[in-house]
Amino acid sequence: MKILVIGTGGREHALALALSRDPGTTEVHAAPGNPGIAEVATLHEVDPMDGAAVADLAETLGVDLVVVGPEAPLVAGVADAVTGRGIACFGPSQAAARLEGSKAFSKEVMAAAGVPTAASYSCSSADEIEAALDAFSPPYVVKDDALAAGKGVVVTTDRDEALAHALSCDRVVIEEFLDGPEVSLFAVCDGTTARALQPAQDFKRIFDGGLGANTGGMGAYSPLPWAPPDLAERVLATVVQPTLDEMVRRDTPFVGTLYVGLALTAAGPRVIEFNCRFGDPDIQPVLALLTSPLGALLKAAADGHLGVAPAPKFADGAAVTVVMASAGYPQSSSAGDVVVGTETLAGEPDVQVIHAGTSRTDDALVTAGGRVLAVTATGTDVADARAKAYEGIASISFPGAQWRRDIAAEPLGVVEGASLTQEST
Ligand code: AMP
Ligand code: GLY
Repeated sequence: MKILVIGTGGREHALALALSRDPGTTEVHAAPGNPGIAEVATLHEVDPMDGAAVADLAETLGVDLVVVGPEAPLVAGVADAVTGRGIACFGPSQAAARLEGSKAFSKEVMAAAGVPTAASYSCSSADEIEAALDAFSPPYVVKDDALAAGKGVVVTTDRDEALAHALSCDRVVIEEFLDGPEVSLFAVCDGTTARALQPAQDFKRIFDGGLGANTGGMGAYSPLPWAPPDLAERVLATVVQPTLDEMVRRDTPFVGTLYVGLALTAAGPRVIEFNCRFGDPDIQPVLALLTSPLGALLKAAADGHLGVAPAPKFADGAAVTVVMASAGYPQSSSAGDVVVGTETLAGEPDVQVIHAGTSRTDDALVTAGGRVLAVTATGTDVADARAKAYEGIASISFPGAQWRRDIAAEPLGVVEGASLTQEST
C-alpha cells in the first residue's frame, strides 16, 4: 500500500515512522514534510491547504490512501478534494471537521448526542457574556469559538480577565470548570464505528509544575497506569459512538480521528474538547507502542470497514515523549538556531527523535518553529521510558532550548489541575 501523509509537524513524523514500520506499507510519501520525515518518506512540495494540489499529487503518485495530519487543511476541506477524486482519505470532510473547527458546533453536537461535557453558553454579545460569567463560579473557562491553535482558551479566577478575553472574540463559549486529571483518547472512526487507541496524557503548560502559558503540548506519556482499565471502552460507549451516530443523523459522517480531550471528574469522564485529528505530542507515545499495522487500520477507517479490521494492539511497557522548544515559545519562536546531537541517537532501538519545527541548511539542522523536536522513548514502565527520554534530551542541544524536567514524573492532574485555579493563559 502506498500512503501520502499531509503535514509538517511531529504528529506527521510519528505517523510516517509508524507507517514505514508497517510491513503492509510499500511507500510512504509526505507533503510538505520536514527533515525528520524525509528520513522515512519521500517529500513533495505541496501546500497542505490546497485541496486540488494535494489531490493532484495523490493522483500522480497513485497512492492508496491520503492521511491528512493537521486540523487546518481538514477544516478547509482538503479531505473532500481527495475523496472527490475517488482516493481514500483518512481525515474528516469539511462538514465533519466542524467538530474541531467550531466549539459552539461541537457543543451543539454533544448536547444532541447526550455526551457528558461541561455546561456551557455560546455568546455573541456583551450582555450574554456577563450573564454567562455570572452563571458559573470561578475559575472561569472562556473559549474563542474559532480555531485558535490552542491559544483561544483562557482559564482564570480573575473575572475581569475572563471578560476581556470574551469581549475580544467574535463568538465565545463560556463553560463550567471541569476539575480532574486530563486524558487524551484517540478514536479511529470510519463514520459509523470506532476503535480506541491507548489513552495518553499531555503536559500543556510551558513550565514545570504546570505553570506558565498553555502550549501545544510539552510532553506526553502512555499508557496511564492509574486510569480505570475500562476507560477507553467507557468513552467509546458514552462519547464516541453517540457522537458518530449524531453526525450520521446530520448526514455528515465523521471519518478520521476523533480526539477526545477528557477530564476525569468526580462525576465521571467529561469531554473538554473534540479535535478532528491526532494530538501532538500525545499521539507520539501511543504510536511508539503500537504493534499492529497502522496503514491497514487507517485504510479500513477511510474505506468504512473498521468493523471487520483487527483491533489495534500495543506493546507492554510504556512510552514517554519530551518536547524541546525554541527560545521564546509559546509567545514567539526562534528560527535558525543550530541543533546538534540528534545523530547520536540514530542507532538507539528504544529512542526516536521526532522532528516538528526543524529545517536543514547546507551543513546543519536548525530550528524552524516553536516546538522543534521531541524525544520519544519506550521502556518497561513509565519510569524506565522517562529515564531514556531524558537521556536522549541530554544529548541534544541548541541555543535557547527549553524543555520541561517533570514530564511523566507523576500523574498529571494534581499538579497541572491545581495550577489552573491560580494561573491564567
Ligand atoms: P481546549 O483548547 O478546549 O483543549 O482547552 C485548552 C486547555 O484549557 C485544556 O487542555 C484544559 O487544560 C483547559 N480547559 C479547557 N476547558 C476546560 C474546562 N471546562 N475545565 C477545565 N479546564 C479546561
Ligand atoms: N497536544 C494537544 C493537541 O494536539 O491539540
